[in-house]
This record gives sequence, structure tokens and C-alpha cells, in this order.
Amino acid sequence: MRSLDFAGNTGSSRIMLNVTFEQLSEFCDTEKTAFIVDRNVLDLHKDKLSLYQRLIEVEPGEQQKTLETVNTIYGRFLEWELDRSSVIVGVGGGMVCDIAGFAASTYLRGIPFGFVPTSLLALVDASVGGKNGVNYHGYKNMVGTFNQPGFVLCDFDFLRTLPYDELKNGIAEAIKSALIADEALFNYIEDNKEEIYSLNHDVIQRVVLDSLNIKIVVVSRDETEKGERRKLNFGHTIGHAIEKTIGLHHGEAVSIGMAISAGLSKKNGTLTEKDVERIERLLNYFQLPTKLEGDRKAIIDAICKDKKREGENIHFVLLDGIGNSLIEKIKIEELQEVLFDLC
Ligand SMILES: NC(=O)c1ccc[n+]([C@@H]2O[C@H](COP(=O)([O-])OP(=O)(O)OC[C@H]3O[C@@H](n4cnc5c(N)ncnc54)[C@H](O)[C@@H]3O)[C@@H](O)[C@H]2O)c1
Repeated sequence: MRSLDFAGNTGSSRIMLNVTFEQLSEFCDTEKTAFIVDRNVLDLHKDKLSLYQRLIEVEPGEQQKTLETVNTIYGRFLEWELDRSSVIVGVGGGMVCDIAGFAASTYLRGIPFGFVPTSLLALVDASVGGKNGVNYHGYKNMVGTFNQPGFVLCDFDFLRTLPYDELKNGIAEAIKSALIADEALFNYIEDNKEEIYSLNHDVIQRVVLDSLNIKIVVVSRDETEKGERRKLNFGHTIGHAIEKTIGLHHGEAVSIGMAISAGLSKKNGTLTEKDVERIERLLNYFQLPTKLEGDRKAIIDAICKDKKREGENIHFVLLDGIGNSLIEKIKIEELQEVLFDLC
């Protein structure tokens, strides 16, 4: 077992890699545990989960990440008379991690909680960093907390049942992490593409470990996203706008966002044409798109309405070579012009 520790102002997490769900009792008192589980995961992994009585089934899908779902969860906590000695474990993708972390952080002003991430995106990103929350009135992650899970148990066997479209979302995030902070990880993903495709556990472990290390280093320096944590948004300002406007999968939208941001970095003089091509080739290998197709104006308008803008400016993440990034404060007007040129 490999493990990683994260100690932040909002709590500490131990992340255990390549362990099995059956080992859960080594990390928490399963007698006192209530599980919040994605229904798809429950259906596909009944053998692992049906051993436990206190299971709250959450319907899959981003549209379930709401206060209404949290309300139902609180009802079950009350019914089971959970107290601060109880433990909440979220088993699912990023949606379940976010909602389980939020329900646990707010019920009785906070019950200990942990995650068993079952999607690659949750493994490389959503389960670590302490952001929990729900969507509100159609706005993503508008209500939430910063609070670290006590533990994250990574059992790669769950990935066996993950549809490829969902796997791609995690691959895009791992490539993002490599691009902003770790050239060696980028090279490793390039050299081990086939093994990632076939879910070789040793290769997946290295990709998860390195991606999480990057997230941990960045988050430790800026837990509440006032500066450096913004780097994790590389490709996401454009990606979110694409996701919202033309409804692509998150990973596909971020992939286009990263390709456009790589183009912007080239224009900025901090990335070579050769590196732009290398990035696009790797994304395309995993069937992640790099060209924008759709209503450009609507997408650019959505970028300019990003909730992370500050007045007339937006913090935009650019690459300074593969494995390095910088945050530029760009005037929305300027960004608009460049995007019309580039897209
Ligand atoms: N808190 C953070 O730092 C952070 C970071 C990134 C993303 N997020 C959040 O994470 C969410 C996206 O996460 P996601 O991509 O995991 O989406 P998700 O949790 O919605 O899961 C995607 C789909 O995969 C299915 N699934 C999950 N694991 C499976 C498995 N092992 N086998 C079969 N099906 C499986 C789910 O049922 C669902 O249909 C978003 O809500 C996003 O806002 C949070």
C-alpha cells in the first residue's frame, strides 16, 4: 500500500492507494459508519457494499447534487441517530464525494467522514483538497464548505465497471495536473498510454499518486483558492463554458479548454508550437477533442460570465512550457478578442 498525507488548516487526510474496499475496517469503525453511495456503483458492486446496513442510495448524475438530496440524507442521519462519534463514508464519483463531504461537514456542525472514490476523476482530483458542496439554482458548487476527509481509500478495482466516457474525464484531469506542474508525469502518461487504457493497476497507481501529489502541493500553499490554487483551473474556464453551452462531457470540454489555453500560451510566447502539437496528440489518443465546434459566440459569452471573474478581469492559467504554469490577470475584453481569433 502507498499512502499520502495532507495536513491543511481545514483538517488532515490520509490517502491510501491500491487497497481494497474490504480493508475499510482498518481505517474507520464500520459499526458506526453510514454510507452514501451512488446507485450505479451500488448496483455494480453489491458484493462489496451489501455487507453494510446503513446505506443511503443517491441517484446518479450532476442534477442530484442539490440541497434537496442533502435534505434527504439529513433525514436518514436523524433516523439513525448519528452523532459526532459516527463516520460518514461517500462511495462513488466526484458527485457523491462532494455531497457526502458537505452533508457530513454540516450535520451536527461536522461528523468525521471519508471517501472511497470510484471514478478516475474522483481518484485523481475530487476526493482530495477539501472542497465539498452542492449546486444551487443551476450554478455549480455555489453552496459548500472547505473541510478535509479523514481518509480516502483508493480501490482501483471499482474502475473495472467505469464507462470509458467517464474514464476520459479522469484522464483529462491527470493530463491537466501534469501540464501545470509535472513534465515527468506528462512523459509517463505519453509512454504508458496503452496501459492506462487497459487499467493496469501499477500504472494507474503512479498516475493517481503523482496527480494527487500535485494537487496536495498546490492546495497546501493555497487552501481556500486565493492564488496558486487557481492553477488547478487550467483549461476549466473555457471548459466550463463549453460544458454549459454545448453539453459535452466534462473531460471533453476541459480537453478543448486546455488545447485553446495551450494556443493562448503559444501566443503569449511561453509554449512552443511543437509542445502544443504534443499536447493535442496525447489528448486525441484518449479520444479527447481539441477543436471547438459549436456556437463560438455563446461559449465566449459564457466564459466572460465566469463566476471566478473579478470585475473587468479574469485570472487565466497559461502554460510556461510543459510542466509549468502561470496565472495571468487578463482583461475580459482582451480575452474575448483573442478567443475569437483562436477558436
Ligand atoms: N471537490 C473537488 O475538489 C472536485 C474536483 C473535481 C470535480 N468535482 C466534482 O466531481 C463531480 C464529477 O465527478 P465524476 O466525474 O466522478 O462524476 P459522477 O460522480 O457524477 O460520476 C459519473 C458517472 O460515473 C458513474 N460511476 C462512478 N463510479 C463508477 C464505477 N466504478 N462504475 C460504474 N459507474 C460509475 C456514476 O454513477 C455516474 O453516472 C462534479 O460534481 C464536480 O463538480 C469536485
